[in-house]
Amino acid sequence: MLVLGIESSCDETGVALYDSVRGLLAHALYSQIAMHNDYGGVVPELASRDHIRRVLPLTRQVLAESGCTLEALDGIAYTQGPGLAGALLVGAGMARALAFSLNIPAVGVHHLEGHMLSPLISDTPPEFPFVALLVSGGHTQLMRVSGVGRYTLLGETLDDAAGEAFDKTAQLLGLGYPGGPALSKLAAAGDASRFTLPRPMLNSGDFDFSFSGLKTAVLTLVRKQGLDQAADIAAAFQVVAVDVLVGKSLAACAHSGVTRLVVAGGVGANTHLRERLTREAAARGISVFYPRLEFCTDNGAMIAYAGAQRLATHRKTSDLTFAVKPRWELATLDAV
Ligand code: KG4
Ligand code: ZN
Repeated sequence: MLVLGIESSCDETGVALYDSVRGLLAHALYSQIAMHNDYGGVVPELASRDHIRRVLPLTRQVLAESGCTLEALDGIAYTQGPGLAGALLVGAGMARALAFSLNIPAVGVHHLEGHMLSPLISDTPPEFPFVALLVSGGHTQLMRVSGVGRYTLLGETLDDAAGEAFDKTAQLLGLGYPGGPALSKLAAAGDASRFTLPRPMLNSGDFDFSFSGLKTAVLTLVRKQGLDQAADIAAAFQVVAVDVLVGKSLAACAHSGVTRLVVAGGVGANTHLRERLTREAAARGISVFYPRLEFCTDNGAMIAYAGAQRLATHRKTSDLTFAVKPRWELATLDAV
């Protein structure tokens, strides 16, 4: 089955073609980061307008790169939520209209399901069940995954998401948006042992997270030390954030009796997290699976892949009625 996937939930337009037999055929991405950088964060209306400009050229690009025609498509998947309503509507409107004109089904995909299944776009995918650590700009969750759509929430953040904590800390340290990659780069030049920050909820006995206190601790430190020590503060923050993510993920695996851990979402691109997790998991007999680095952050490939799984059981031809879901709980999805 050949599926076109369209991602437009936030500040990246991603389009990809996934074939359930041949695998990923092509993917293309346009990032709006430079446009939002001046504002220190994503401006929703600008994001929507830019998705409109990019989505058709990117679609033509993946079709040309893969040598496929529109008529060869068996279905179209688009991000239905969660995300920015206006941005989601661009991908959803385009997907539904195209599917209707081609008389093929269209399916709305949950953005986080896309992230969570993205490590499966691989020649050596993990088998079910696994524990998934979802660490994006908007979400931090630990899930037990026993199949597509079979998700049990083990724990989640009570306040800021992990990516948000990286972004806000980066802002306090005078770095640009998005802050995660910049903070991680600065931290590499710092000494993590110079400052001690709290490890929030590391020993809370559950799988929930809290990052807002950590951000306040960084703010207090920045006020006291000034920005001359920014690299050391960045390193101290990163070590603590990673400690908590690693500690809780391994505890969740032990609790669930699962020896496979999947890491997905933008923070999954963090080198320090990857190194620590891989080392400490191996010592406990747990294998860790990551998406390709380019598929940690938002992309169309994960939407095409997740859509292909859902379209396999959902072959209804598309009509033109649709709704996006800016807020949408992952645990409410149907099993495939
Ligand atoms: O999954 P994603 O692309 O978008 C959402 O669905 O939110 O995640 C974006 C988040 C941002 O907060 C960004 O700062 C963070 O992922 N991020 C990183 C790194 N690369 C991206 N955080 C830490 N280290 C990185 N290398
Ligand atoms: Zn995302």
